[in-house]
Amino acid sequence: MVNVVLGTFFGDEGKGKIIDFLSENADISVRCTGGNNAGHTIYVNGEKFAFHLIPSGILNKGTKAVIGNGVVIDPKILIEEIENLKAHNIEVNNLFISDKAHIIFPYHIAMDNLLEERRIDKIGTTKRGIGPAYCDKYERCGIRAQDLISPRFREMITKNVNSKNTILKAYGYEEFHCEEIIKEYETYAAYLKPYITDTVYLLHEGIQNNQNIVCEGAQATLLDIDFGNYPFVTSSNPTIGGVCTGTGIGAKYIGEVYGVLKAYSSKVGEGPYMTEEANQIGDLIRELGHEYGTTTKRPRRCGWLDLVALKYAVMINGITGLAINHVDTVGKLKKIKLCVAYRYKGEINMRYTNNLEYLAECEPVYEEFDGNFGDISHIKKREDLPENAKKYLTRIEQVVGVPIKFIGTGPERENMIVVKS
Ligand code: GDP
Ligand code: IMO
Ligand code: MG
Repeated sequence: MVNVVLGTFFGDEGKGKIIDFLSENADISVRCTGGNNAGHTIYVNGEKFAFHLIPSGILNKGTKAVIGNGVVIDPKILIEEIENLKAHNIEVNNLFISDKAHIIFPYHIAMDNLLEERRIDKIGTTKRGIGPAYCDKYERCGIRAQDLISPRFREMITKNVNSKNTILKAYGYEEFHCEEIIKEYETYAAYLKPYITDTVYLLHEGIQNNQNIVCEGAQATLLDIDFGNYPFVTSSNPTIGGVCTGTGIGAKYIGEVYGVLKAYSSKVGEGPYMTEEANQIGDLIRELGHEYGTTTKRPRRCGWLDLVALKYAVMINGITGLAINHVDTVGKLKKIKLCVAYRYKGEINMRYTNNLEYLAECEPVYEEFDGNFGDISHIKKREDLPENAKKYLTRIEQVVGVPIKFIGTGPERENMIVVKS
């Protein structure tokens, strides 16, 4: 059985926490897309783990952690992450890196900086070299994990450094020295070589043996290069299609698709955000939810939950169940607003699309709910939640038409209600 966990908004919905929970019974946990632009936080016994590249499932002893072919890997960051886990006495023997995953080089990071600086409408990228690395992949000059450990590496990197230097020089940026990069990356190659393998076969062996596989989505639907708020998006498909292309797992093997959301919403980076509260309410939500980026530490923009966008994410990804985090956080507010439709030129509708002119003309239609849920962190059954929380959650299900399967009641592993169907 292959189950998938995907973000439904702008990322940071708490995917890591849901994956950590599902990985308890998983044989394999696999990252499919993105790179170290992701930051997935898990709290275990008060200790914080922030994952950028390694699937969060690695915390579960015995679960194989796979970095799929759709991921772009900065080897320096990956090695730091491995070393950090080892320092916390977490075994990293079960890590497998796809030989097809593309590698991020320092010139990708320089290009990310250059492009962002020169953009009039800034995207607010994480400046981790993600977009430029995917550009090379599609330009067909990318260097994959298998190339990093191949005798052809020197030739490939020399071509790439020369061509990137031409651009960097033209814009007055510092050029890279090929030999320095070769030396640095040969060290990384030697370190990572034992982990690099053909993960497609590993995953399919798991499927043949009826193993439990969890696919860990990074980023989210509204950051998707096709379906998100283009151009204010990331350079991959964090939606369901990216799970198939980023792992080599065919659609017919996929079972549950869990869509993760927060009981409010947040965004890092620029671009439209329909239910943003760029005011004291947004500031209050940020403080209550500790909404500061795991990767870049940037304060996150905050606002209300948008069910028009959520329904769009449900539609595109074929979401079968919702995982709603931070119910404890909205419960600290006196009043909660929920966007149940958009008003476009006077007409009420439920249509999300990434036409930015259309979005600019839409206005959220809100319903208001009572908050003050009290301390819900210890509650284990949905029926034991306070009435105000139940009303809010039931309304979300009614509008979106998908059942809630997980309810986050705090940041820790055990702060979660698993809804019995
Ligand atoms: P991800 O990128 O989707 O994995 O999410 P992040 O880790 O970037 O951001 C989610 C943040 O919310 C983290 O700090 C989590 O510890 C925290 N979190 C997740 N679920 C809950 C919840 O139910 N309640 C509270 N208070 N915090 C949560
Ligand atoms: P997780 O997996 C939130 C955003 C960046 C920026 C845009 C493009 O933790 O949910 P990029 O560096 O990818 O080219 O930046 O995408 N972004 C994220 N925002 N959570 C993430 O990942 C993100 N990954 C990228 O802030 O707006
Ligand atoms: Mg995150």
